[in-house]
Amino acid sequence: MKKVIFLNGSPKRKRAVSEKFLKIAEDCLEGQIQGEKLYIYESEFSDEYFDRIYEADAVVMALPLYIDCLPARVLEFMAESKEYLKNREEKRPELYFIINCGFLEYSQNDTAIKIIEKYAEKNGLNYRGGVSVGSGAMILQSRKKDILEKVLKDMAEEAGAFHYPENMPEKTVRKINVDMPRFLFKAKADKLWVEAGAKKGLDKKALRAKYY
Ligand SMILES: Cc1cc2nc3c(=O)[nH]c(=O)nc-3n(C[C@H](O)[C@H](O)[C@H](O)COP(=O)(O)O)c2cc1C
Repeated sequence: MKKVIFLNGSPKRKRAVSEKFLKIAEDCLEGQIQGEKLYIYESEFSDEYFDRIYEADAVVMALPLYIDCLPARVLEFMAESKEYLKNREEKRPELYFIINCGFLEYSQNDTAIKIIEKYAEKNGLNYRGGVSVGSGAMILQSRKKDILEKVLKDMAEEAGAFHYPENMPEKTVRKINVDMPRFLFKAKADKLWVEAGAKKGLDKKALRAKYY
């Protein structure tokens, strides 16, 4: 049975959009793999921790986009695991990613995807591509929900199958965002912020206050 690590790199952990996407991938492989979920933001980066991850056959990382890059602890994870991987002789797992951003377009994720690719390349990991999601917080409530689920399941099935180098499919980055004009997306996103502020007792003026 293939061992697959599902790695959540969001500081929001179980409340994260990344968690929902990981769950879709994880659930469709139930009973077919030996899976384990780990949270980068709950972990000490010890050798034992990296052993658990890099002994696996495949690692699926789910990550949010932060300032066109990755969250700080994820970058730290990459830097620390680089040291660990330098000394590791055994085979390196396949690496898949699911990245999501708050803005409409999945293209916002492109620079961060390059960072993931470089991380894999520099550390001898078998980079297999992944899923790039725009409008991450909205997409599961949109008409694109079914397509996103299918895309995540396709990727998960690839991660869960016992492939051999000669018949591995081409590595792919599957890209998806909600189908909506930008002005409408902006109006919806603004409304979500106003509602979130109201729940915390903040009106529109308070949300726009500048402290600098
Ligand atoms: C500190 C911070 C920086 C962010 N930077 C970006 C960004 O540069 N571009 C973008 O599209 N979304 C950005 N976002 C939005 C997140 O990518 C978005 O909310 C995502 O759905 C969070 O995923 P998660 O719930 O898995 O953590 C940022 C969010 C935070 C909190």
